[in-house]
Formats: sequence, C-alpha cells, structure tokens
Amino acid sequence: MQKAARKVFIASGGGHDLMTVSEGWEKYAREHASSLRVGDEWNRPRASGIDVKTSEAALPYLDRNVFEPFLGTCDIMLEIGPGGGRFTEVLLSKCKKLIAAETSATMLKLLRERFGDDVGIEYYLADGRGLGKVADDSVDAAFSYGVFVHLQHWDIYNYLAELQRVLKPGGKAIVQYSNTFSEMGWKRFRNAVPKQVNRHKIPGTFIVNTPELMREFIIRARLECVDVLTEIVRRDCIALIRKPAN
Ligand SMILES: C[S@@+](CC[C@H](N)C(=O)[O-])C[C@H]1O[C@@H](n2cnc3c(N)ncnc32)[C@H](O)[C@@H]1O
Repeated sequence: MQKAARKVFIASGGGHDLMTVSEGWEKYAREHASSLRVGDEWNRPRASGIDVKTSEAALPYLDRNVFEPFLGTCDIMLEIGPGGGRFTEVLLSKCKKLIAAETSATMLKLLRERFGDDVGIEYYLADGRGLGKVADDSVDAAFSYGVFVHLQHWDIYNYLAELQRVLKPGGKAIVQYSNTFSEMGWKRFRNAVPKQVNRHKIPGTFIVNTPELMREFIIRARLECVDVLTEIVRRDCIALIRKPAN
C-alpha cells in the first residue's frame, strides 16, 4: 500500500467506518430527540431484574436500598452519562453541586432544558476520553448508571482511573455494569450472538463483564472495591467503590 493511502486507511480505523463513543451516542440522541422524554425507554425495571411492581417504583427502590445508604449527602457529585436525567433527578437532592459529564451534545442540551440553570448542575460536554476539565481530588461522590454496560474495557479502565484522579481521598462512587454470567445477563448475551458475530462492537450492545473482572479493573485503577451487588438489579452488577483515604 502507498504511504499516503496507508495513512488514510489507519486514520479511518483500518478501513472500517468506526464511530467514536461520542458520535454513536450523539446519533442516538438525535434520532430520539423528538420522543416525549429521552431516557424513558430505558425505564423497564423488570427487563433488568429489579423486583418492583411498576416502573415508577424502580428509582425509589434503588435509592432506598443502594444510593442513599452508600452515598448519603455531600457537596460535589459527578454523574457520568446522565442522558435524559432520570437518575440526575434523584442525585440532585444528595449534593450542593452536580457535575453532569455527558458525551452527547444533544443529550446535554435536553438535560439542560429539563433542569435549567438554577439547580446547581454544571453541564459538562465530555469528549469520551476522560474527565479532563474536572480537577484532581475535587469530587466527593460519583455515579454512573447505564453507561459502563456499553463501554469497552479500555474505556472502563480509563474512566476508573479518572475517578481515582478526581475523587477526594475517601470519596465514593457507584457504578452499574453488566454481569454476563448472571441468568439474565447470559440470556441477553446468547440472544445477541447472531447479530454480533464477525462485527466490530455495535453501539448500544452490552460489553462482557463480571464481578471478578470489574473488581480487577477497580483495584488496578488504585480504587477500593467496597462491595459488588448482584441481587438488586439481577441482570447487572452495582459496584460500590471508594478512593482510599491518604
Ligand atoms: C443508556 S444512556 C443512560 C443514561 C442515564 N444514565 C440513565 O440511566 O437513564 C447512556 C448515556 O451515557 C452517555 N455516555 C456514553 N458514553 C459516555 C462517556 N464515555 N462519557 C460520558 N457520557 C457517556 C450517552 O451519551 C447517554 O446519554
């Protein structure tokens, strides 16, 4: 291959039309921007193994059993991937300021339209590569739901390393991620085989993950894995993480 042609080939992802994570979610957000409220389509608790009777009961259930007991209240909280803001609503009452790090400009715009500029949210358009704008040791608590399930392992590790950087010593994080070998996780994995084989990662699909694998990434990012909950959202895992105190 000629030198110039090879350069273009590599820059374009080896000849494949590969989107970045940001581009993939931006495309999704634009396609769904006209729906009543983006994010409501993710609110199907039984499909993720949350044992509540109605979809309205899911967030209070998670808050009561996981978020509130572990996070309590604090000054500065960070949410990675707030999307339409269904968890943002719950997190706002737990902090004085919430940094909403979202990689899709359209999602961020919708989030701002929903919550406005007077509730203590800092709207942050993340580039998908990290949390560059957020200062070291500046955040009391972090939260991410519905995001790490889709990230590739390199992005998972990168974000954990970023959490290690931005959390204050002793700071806490809640991260939900996939549990491929749970009963529901495995069903999802098996059902995806026909559309996944012989493809690069399709945006929106669940990455393979396990409590053990994630624990390893958490430890290698120099964070402490306080607990991994597998029974609250039976398809997934929820990691309770802490940055060691100095
Ligand atoms: C499935 S949605 C979940 C949204 C919300 N957390 C919820 O559960 O309703 C994933 C969201 O994370 C955002 N996202 C994906 N990758 C991200 C990244 N690397 N950094 C920041 N946001 C990201 C997407 O743009 C999208 O808004």
